[in-house]
Amino acid sequence: MAKVRSVYICRECGYESAKWNGKCPECGQWNTFEESEAAPVKAASSKSRSTAVYSSDSILSLDRIDSDYHETRYSTGLTELDRVLGGGLVKGSLVLLGGEPGIGKSTLLLQICKHLGKNKTVLYVSGEESARQIKLRADRLGVKDVSLGILAKNDAEAICTTIEKEKPDVAIIDSIQTMSIAGINSSQGSISQVRECTNLFMHTAKNMEIPVFIVGHVNKDGAIAGPKVMEHIVDAVLYFEGQQNMSYRILRAEKNRFGSTNEIGVFEMNDDGLSQVANPSEMLLAGRPWNVSGNCVACVIEGTRPILAEVQALVAKSAFSAPRRTSSGFDYNRLYLILAVLEKRCGLFFGGLDVYINIVGGLWLDDPSADLPIAMALYSSVTDKMISDKITAFGEIGLGGEVRSASYIKQRIAEAERLGFEKCIVPSQSLKNIDTKKFGVKVIGVSNIKQAFAEI
Ligand code: TYD
Ligand code: MG
Repeated sequence: MAKVRSVYICRECGYESAKWNGKCPECGQWNTFEESEAAPVKAASSKSRSTAVYSSDSILSLDRIDSDYHETRYSTGLTELDRVLGGGLVKGSLVLLGGEPGIGKSTLLLQICKHLGKNKTVLYVSGEESARQIKLRADRLGVKDVSLGILAKNDAEAICTTIEKEKPDVAIIDSIQTMSIAGINSSQGSISQVRECTNLFMHTAKNMEIPVFIVGHVNKDGAIAGPKVMEHIVDAVLYFEGQQNMSYRILRAEKNRFGSTNEIGVFEMNDDGLSQVANPSEMLLAGRPWNVSGNCVACVIEGTRPILAEVQALVAKSAFSAPRRTSSGFDYNRLYLILAVLEKRCGLFFGGLDVYINIVGGLWLDDPSADLPIAMALYSSVTDKMISDKITAFGEIGLGGEVRSASYIKQRIAEAERLGFEKCIVPSQSLKNIDTKKFGVKVIGVSNIKQAFAEI
C-alpha cells in the first residue's frame, strides 16, 4: 500500500512545507504548522497528459455572454451591505463574512433573510447553533413569514448535496470552522478542513449559480482562522469590525471581485438587532467635547461617501528618555512624517513630548487628506489653542509643508454644510473650478499648513 505523504501547513498564511517548522518562513509566525495529508500529485509530463479537449463551443464570445445587471444582483434589503458588496449580492458568488466571535455576523445574516426570504428561498446552515436557538434569535429580530429553511448540520458534503437537491436561491453557512468533510483526517476548523470545505462551497455556488455566504471567525490577531487559503478562493471578503463594548459596527470589503473595496457600511447593534446608520458622520461626532484643545474634525472620503470624523491629539511631557508616539486609526509612519514637517516648517518641537493620536469611533483613516486635520489637532494640543467645533479641514500635506489638492471637494463641503459646520479649511489648489459662494459654509483655501493654523 502506498504510504500517505504528510505536509505541514501554516495555519496563518497557508505556507506548505515538507517538514515541520517552529517559525513560518513566509509570515514569520511561531508554532503555526499543522500536519495534513498531502493530495496525491500526478506528474503533468506530456506523456501522461490526458487527451481530453474542450470543444470550440465551450469558448464563449464576450459579446454573447449575458450580463443583465438586474438579473444577476439581488438586493439584501440592507443598503449598507449592498453598497459594500458593490451594489447587491451577485448570483453564483461566494462571500466570506469575517469577524471576531460575538461581533454580530450571525445576526447580520439572519437579518438579511427578513428581506431575501420574502420572494426567495433561503437555506441557513448552522453548525454552531441549534434550530431552536436560531428560531429564538429570529423571533427577536422580527424575521417571520419568510421562506427560510434551517439546517443545523456540519457535514459539508451532505450540505452541498442538499443545496443541489433543494435548490435554494441563497445559502448561508455559519460558520466554516464548524464544517467538516468525513474523508479528511483532521479536526474541524483545521486548515485542510477549512480549505476543502471552502472549495466545496465554491463549486456549489458556481454550479448552482446561487450566492453563498460563509461566516469565518477571526482569531485574536485579526486573521480569519485558516485565513489566506480561504481569501483567494472566495469572491469577496467582508470584515465586520467594531468593539464589543461599543454599539456600532463597521463592515468593510477586503477583497471584492464584483465591486470596489473602498466602501464601508456602518451599523449599530441594538436590542432588536442591527440597524443601519445612514449618516455615520452624525454618529461619529455625537458627544464631541467642545472646549478642549487637540480636537479637529476631519472630512474624509470612505469609498465614495464623505465622512466627518473626530481626530484627537494629545501632546504631553514625556517621562521617558525616548518619548512615546502612539496612533490609533491613523498610519503610524505618516504621523512621524507630519511631526517632522511640523518641526521643520513651523518650528514646533516634539522632542521630549509624548504624542498620542486617536480617531474616534474605531475608524481607520487611510485617505491622505486626513493629514491636515491631524496636523491641526497636533498644533492645537501643543499650543493649547482650541479649535472651534464648527471648523472642519482636509488636505494632504507634502514634505515642504504645502497642502496638496484632494478629490471629491464638492461632496466633502456639502457634507460639512449638512452637519452645520461654519468653516471648511480646504486645499486652495482644489478650488480652481469651484464657486465657493454656492455653499452655506465658509470655504477657506489654504496652500500651506501655516495658513491653515492661522485660521484656527
Ligand atoms: P452574533 O450575531 O451571535 O455574533 P457572531 O455570529 O459574530 O459570533 O452576535 C452576538 C452578539 O450580539 C451578542 O453579544 C449579543 C448581541 N446582540 C444584540 O445586542 N442584539 C440582538 O438583537 C442580537 C440578536 C444580538
Ligand atoms: Mg454566530
